[in-house]
Amino acid sequence: MSEHRFPEGFLWGVATSAHQIEGAFHEGGRGESIWDRFAATPGNITDGSDASIACDHYHRWREDIDLMRLLGVGAYRFSVAWPRIVPDGTGAVNEAGLDFYDALVDALLENGIQPFVTLYHWDLPQTLQDRGGWGIRDTAEAFARYAAEVTRRLGDRVKSWITHNEPWCIAILGHEQGEHAPGHRDPAEALRVSHHVLLSHGWAAAAIRENAPDAEVGIVLNLVPVVPLRADASDREASRSFDGEFNRWYLDPLFRGRYPADAVEDRIRRGHLDGAELPFAIEGDLDAISTPLDFLGINYYSRVVIKAGARGEPVSVGMVPKEELTDMGWEVYPQGLHELLLRIDREYGPKKIYITENGAAFPDDVEIGGRIRDARRIDFLRGHVTAAHRAIADGVPLMGYFVWSLLDNFEWAHGYTKRFGLYRVDYPTQRRIARDSSFWYHDVVARNAVDDHA
Ligand code: FCB
Repeated sequence: MSEHRFPEGFLWGVATSAHQIEGAFHEGGRGESIWDRFAATPGNITDGSDASIACDHYHRWREDIDLMRLLGVGAYRFSVAWPRIVPDGTGAVNEAGLDFYDALVDALLENGIQPFVTLYHWDLPQTLQDRGGWGIRDTAEAFARYAAEVTRRLGDRVKSWITHNEPWCIAILGHEQGEHAPGHRDPAEALRVSHHVLLSHGWAAAAIRENAPDAEVGIVLNLVPVVPLRADASDREASRSFDGEFNRWYLDPLFRGRYPADAVEDRIRRGHLDGAELPFAIEGDLDAISTPLDFLGINYYSRVVIKAGARGEPVSVGMVPKEELTDMGWEVYPQGLHELLLRIDREYGPKKIYITENGAAFPDDVEIGGRIRDARRIDFLRGHVTAAHRAIADGVPLMGYFVWSLLDNFEWAHGYTKRFGLYRVDYPTQRRIARDSSFWYHDVVARNAVDDHA
């Protein structure tokens, strides 16, 4: 066993998002979100649930800050629910919504916990969806205005802002694969959505910087290392294609001010775009999108192994037996985090990187004598924290790490069937129960170091 010490000032945190934990759909003047509507349609959520109560964090947030204090974390990443701030998307600002986050931020700061605020973690006001959602440019304008309203109120205290969480999921899961709200299956629309989300990032970044000039602005991408199954030309080509649409479609506009030409060609070939021009990208858009980032947030969960399908298309293949996968069906692959961080640093050179989400859902959640021995989650986290440490030793400017998640919560289309929390939530009583992983994480945070074995 050896101990790996992190640099002084390395930021340890936990992450959540508004829709997944808050509940209280009809309180404090909140408007309807696309996830309220999506979950109300039978068949969209595995267990038929919705997030109307979730972890009841809207009422229990003080208790949840106590949990963070117990963990000893220095940062908390949460999101603001747009429908609480501008309930109908474009109209009047709801002061009660701002008050909620205002009090939360104050309490965090009083407890020495730095707020990392995500402005969009997927809960679009339904009225904006009714007018075209992220498929139209107006939504990007509405987002910039919302970002201005939030930062005008909180910008004096919040010094770390994240515009969007995982644009790939917004565009592709929501508009091409139909698994997330609003549940569309329209690849051409998904590409427009990806552009408007990125554009709104650039516009919102400008608004944030105006209201909080000394704050850091970033965006969070879900990125994966893509590995060809075999070394032959067809698997390599399929991997290139997957990497293009999953990773580089977002990285290149943000860091290089252009969409990756090979990925654009792939989309034309598949009939999702008409010509070499991207019809929705107008002059100046890519300049706005590529406004320099203060940091890049990376959500890392697993890698993807790709083989070429019958028509050469990328097909993801499982590499390990089912019993070894997490409850999400994801391979546990800590070294992928190291590979990914090195690649991003080398190819895109962000000034700073934070791992804004990393964690695992596991079903083996037995409570024995009041303890929840989630050894597999501890192993998962230990492996990834160790990989993160290795990346720092290799020169990557990694400044912090956030566990997904503080609490079990509403896991989108999976409802309450997947549990990611350092704390178990007993939903009927809303009791939070410490898992062993919370004690393990407390130890890492306190020592600013990880042991690479139990
Ligand atoms: C990410 C999401 C987060 C959570 C984790 C498991 O894609 O950002 O809200 O659902 O996956």
